[in-house]
Amino acid sequence: MQPKVYVTRPLFDAAFVELKREADVEINSEERILSKKELIEHLRDKDGALTLVTDAVDLEVLESAPKLKVVANFAVGFDNVDIQSATRLGVTVTNTPGVLTETTADFAWTLIMAAARRVVEGDRFARAKNFEAWGPKMLLGYDVYGKTLGLIGLGRIGKAVARRAAGFNMRVVFYDPEPIPEDTIKRLGATPLPLDEVLQVSDFISLHVPLLPETHHLMADRTFALMKPTAVVVNTSRGPVVDEKALVRALKDGRISAAGLDVFEREPEIQPELLEMDNVVLAPHIASASHETRLKMCTMAAENLLAVLKGQRPPNILNPEVWDKRRQ
Ligand code: DGY
Repeated sequence: MQPKVYVTRPLFDAAFVELKREADVEINSEERILSKKELIEHLRDKDGALTLVTDAVDLEVLESAPKLKVVANFAVGFDNVDIQSATRLGVTVTNTPGVLTETTADFAWTLIMAAARRVVEGDRFARAKNFEAWGPKMLLGYDVYGKTLGLIGLGRIGKAVARRAAGFNMRVVFYDPEPIPEDTIKRLGATPLPLDEVLQVSDFISLHVPLLPETHHLMADRTFALMKPTAVVVNTSRGPVVDEKALVRALKDGRISAAGLDVFEREPEIQPELLEMDNVVLAPHIASASHETRLKMCTMAAENLLAVLKGQRPPNILNPEVWDKRRQ
């Protein structure tokens, strides 16, 4: 009998050709997030699950799926999966690193540029038919060229954002608690600094850290207070890295000048005050949403999933310690 797989959302058929040859694949046909009850129901008899960042794969879900061998997350982030419990239960967890790096870095830059140069505000202004004459002081923004870019986190995406800064002749400073090899720092022309100093000297701050207890609300009243009043903060990492209420206060009090947000503390909810602010560019978690990248992510997730079902160690295993005691 073929192993049974559940895919929690309609994805990309082209990525499932091989998986469908080897497994009985059931795909949720509805464009909506499954409730916990539905997720539990669907995974009860499955050997593999292909999940999204919107699926909370917690202890209850994992314990209700006694045959589950693999959770292949369609994302590089994996804060939606309780990895510790998965490991304890013998379930392999995988993610999709690498393939979305450049696309996400492009989008961090999209937000930097849009927030600095008030593109979305300008669009709204023009559509509202307010453009009656060119004005020397109309919608003034801030230069990006030649400024200082501060990166919080210099992993794959942080590095890709840094590489792009060379074209804007920017000084790049960064904070990362992990040691970064000297040759990487040199190649990027970046300067490591303590967190507070990065915040003090940067004109643009882009967040590229995973969501961990240490990074939860990393951007809060204390850290916003350190920034320049002209600073622009951009978040393409995870929403809870920013205390949204503190962000609203910082924007309202002019402690920073603008923000570009692709992720939110309680997605898909957005702080109502942020919706009202012209100096905030909002996007619905689309930093990796290009045709090419989402197909690659899907293919990678399907390959990870299939590898486990075939008894092969998957290329993007997140809990390698599970492998010798994995559920067979
Ligand atoms: C990721 O990959 O973690 C993105 O946030 C969702 O695709």
